[in-house]
Order: sequence, then C-alpha cells, then structure tokens
Amino acid sequence: MPRNIIGAPADGDDFFDRERELADLLHKLQNGNHILLKAPRRVGKTSLLHRVRDVGPTHGIVANYTSVGDLYSEGAFVNRVFSCLVEDLSTADRLLARLKRAGSGFFEWVSNLPDRVDELAIRELKVKLRASVPANWRTAGDELLSALVAVDDPRVRVLIVDELPVFIANLLLEDPTQRRARTFLQWFRGVRQEVPTTGSIRWVAAGSIGIDRMALRLRLVDTVNDFQPYPLGAFSHLNALNFLQALADTEKLTLSPQVAEEICDQVQWLIPYYLQMLFGAVRDLSRAHGIEPTRSLVSDAFEELLGEDYRIQFDHWSARLEDTLNPADVRAAKRMLTLAAVSDREVTAEDLATALPDGDSTDDEFDERLNRLLDVLSSDGYLIERDGRWGFRSPLLKGYWRRRYPRSRV
Ligand SMILES: Nc1ncnc2c1ncn2[C@@H]1O[C@H](COP(=O)(O)OP(=O)(O)OP(=O)(O)O)[C@@H](O)[C@H]1O
Ligand SMILES: [Mg+2]
Repeated sequence: MPRNIIGAPADGDDFFDRERELADLLHKLQNGNHILLKAPRRVGKTSLLHRVRDVGPTHGIVANYTSVGDLYSEGAFVNRVFSCLVEDLSTADRLLARLKRAGSGFFEWVSNLPDRVDELAIRELKVKLRASVPANWRTAGDELLSALVAVDDPRVRVLIVDELPVFIANLLLEDPTQRRARTFLQWFRGVRQEVPTTGSIRWVAAGSIGIDRMALRLRLVDTVNDFQPYPLGAFSHLNALNFLQALADTEKLTLSPQVAEEICDQVQWLIPYYLQMLFGAVRDLSRAHGIEPTRSLVSDAFEELLGEDYRIQFDHWSARLEDTLNPADVRAAKRMLTLAAVSDREVTAEDLATALPDGDSTDDEFDERLNRLLDVLSSDGYLIERDGRWGFRSPLLKGYWRRRYPRSRV
C-alpha cells in the first residue's frame, strides 16, 4: 500500500498504478523503439522510469537508470553512463572484460582492475569516473558503447537518461554559440544509429522541457527524430480516487467518497504529487482536531498548504526556473507567472506579453521570446492554454505564487 511520501521518486509499494503506461513502455522497448518520455515537472517520470528498471528483468529487459541534469560536460555524461552500467555486477564484469580485451585507449586504467570485480572495485571505479573526465569524450563514449554492444547478453538493454534536456540546456549555458550542444546531439544520434549495430540497445530520454522542441530551435530535429515521444499525463479521475483511498487505508483514515471527490475538485490537475500533498494536509488537520475529514476540512487544508509552514514544498517551483533560463528570462517568466496568478480569470497571451520589456528588440525577436517562455512555462507544468487563454495548471501553485510574489514585488 502506498505511503504518503512527497519528494523522492515513488518506489516499491509506494508506487501506485501507471499499469497501462508501464505496459506500453515495456512493449515499445521490446519492439526496438527509443523513447522520449515527456511530462511537466513532478508528474511522475522518474518514478515510472525506476519502475521500468525494477520490473524490466521479468520482461527480458535489463535497464540502467541515470540522471544527467547536474552535468556540464560531455565527458561527464560519458562517465555517468559508464557508472550506471556497472551498477549491476554481472554487466560490470563482462563490460570491463570487453574494454580490457579491446585495449581501450580511454579507459586504459580499466586493465589494472582485478579480473573479477566485486562491490569494492566498483565503488573505486566510480570514484575514479567522477574524478577524471576523458579529454576526447567522443572516442571514449564510442569505445564504451562498442564494448557494451559486444557484451553477450540475450536481454534487451535499456539505457535510461533522465533530465537529458537540462543537460543540453547546461551545454548551451556553457557555450552560447551552441556548438557543443549541437556536436553532442549529433554524436548521440550517431551512437543510436551507427554500426556496429546497437540492435539490442534502446535509449530512453526523459525530461520536462521537450528535447524535441529544443532540437527544433537548434534546427537539429533530425538528431532526435528517431525517439518515439511518449507523453505522460495525470491520473484519471478514477485512479486519483483509488489512489486517495489507498493512501487513506495505509494511514487508517476514513475518507468518504465525497471528501475524496472534494480533494480531486480542489487539486484539479490530478498528478500524484498534488494529490499526496493535499491528502497529507487533510490527514494532519483531521488528526490535530480529532475529527474525520469533511469537505470543509479539505478547504482548510488547502489554505494551510499556502501558509509559511509548507512554503518549502513550493519554493523549488520558483528556483527551478533558474535551471534552464538566463537571468533576464527568469525575471520575465516570473513576471508572466505573477500576471497569471493575480488574475481571477485566465489571461491572454497579449496580457502576458506586457510582462516582457520591449527593449530594442524587433517584433520577431519579441514574439520569439514570448513563445519560448510560454513554451517553457507550459511544458514545465506552470501554465496551460485552454481556448486561447492562459492560466495556472494547478490551483495550489497559483495560490502559492500569488502569495509569494504579490504584483508590487516583481
Ligand atoms: N506512481 C506514483 N505513485 C505514487 N506517487 C507518485 C507516483 N508518481 C509520482 N508520485 C509522487 O509525485 C512525486 C514526483 O514524482 P517524480 O519525482 O517521479 O516526478 P518527475 O516527473 O520525475 O518530477 P521532476 O520533473 O521534478 O523530476 C513523488 O515524490 C511522489 O510523491
Ligand atoms: Mg524526475
């Protein structure tokens, strides 16, 4: 039964549902597809990918998971992939033997490792990988992946790279000429396509900013168009109700169907993250007052979540804008969010455009910037467009933003 835990990816018994998505993904991977898992922040991508890794072996799949959003160089990317491949000792053994046999020029220190690697040797290897970045990352990456292809394994090998778009954004920040990001994307396309055939290897790239849109802006669509997009959505209404009941069962809390409906009404965007959050606040209030949850308690819990005590759960929504936008765009995006937050109704793109300084940009430059920011704010789960009008996707996030950034302060 799932526990009411917010923040870390949901693993094991805490992972709820996603049966259809899981079956879809496993099926697509078995059929030889590379997948681009797309969803706004906090929808549950990492949790689902952990699940793919955990249940993979019973479907003839061995999946390695890694997250690359904290990396700023291509060499570090290659090393991180190496690190995640050796997570599993049987792969490590065979992969390292291959690299030794091939007399790898870039991982030549591999030849000094003992013949049979154990946990300790793997730990040392990972420390080494963190400390040293190959100067010629392309050749290092090619050698590594060739060795992986040569590893004799009847299972489908899946390399899951979470937060890939943030990594590409990092390369763009490191090198605004875009050269490094382009070279990397072209190389990455190559390793998915080139001989020796990578027949048994599939890649899953995940992230909230669409890497496909990013590639479009870099005019490099052909470097990612072999990925099959797989958008991940919210829970269905029924699954959201079932999830709330399962959480209540774990907590031995009586949750009437009306109260569960009220939670869904208030959360609106039924992703497990917000359901967990409001459920947790309802449970706390119910315990504090020694009463069973009622519909009005749900409203009180909603208000409670917008108070100082819970601010830390929302602050990352503000901070995360800085991960992928430059400082001027962060200021503009925050102003746009404030405009949407202080309005009781949804707003138009023209309203939001008033948040952008004109400067001396041409009309085209202005429109390009506005569209790019709307793209980031919608793909990251802040705003959504319905019938030509823009509003917050989550009433909780809207409430937070309204209190945190009253108009006068932005
Ligand atoms: N299937 C699930 N069952 C239960 N809870 C879930 C599930 N998926 C997500 N959650 C909840 O939502 C939170 C966010 O999930 P997760 O970290 O997987 O999302 P994400 O899409 O990877 O987010 P980010 O874009 O910020 O990396 C988790 O901490 C957990 O509380
Ligand atoms: Mg994640």
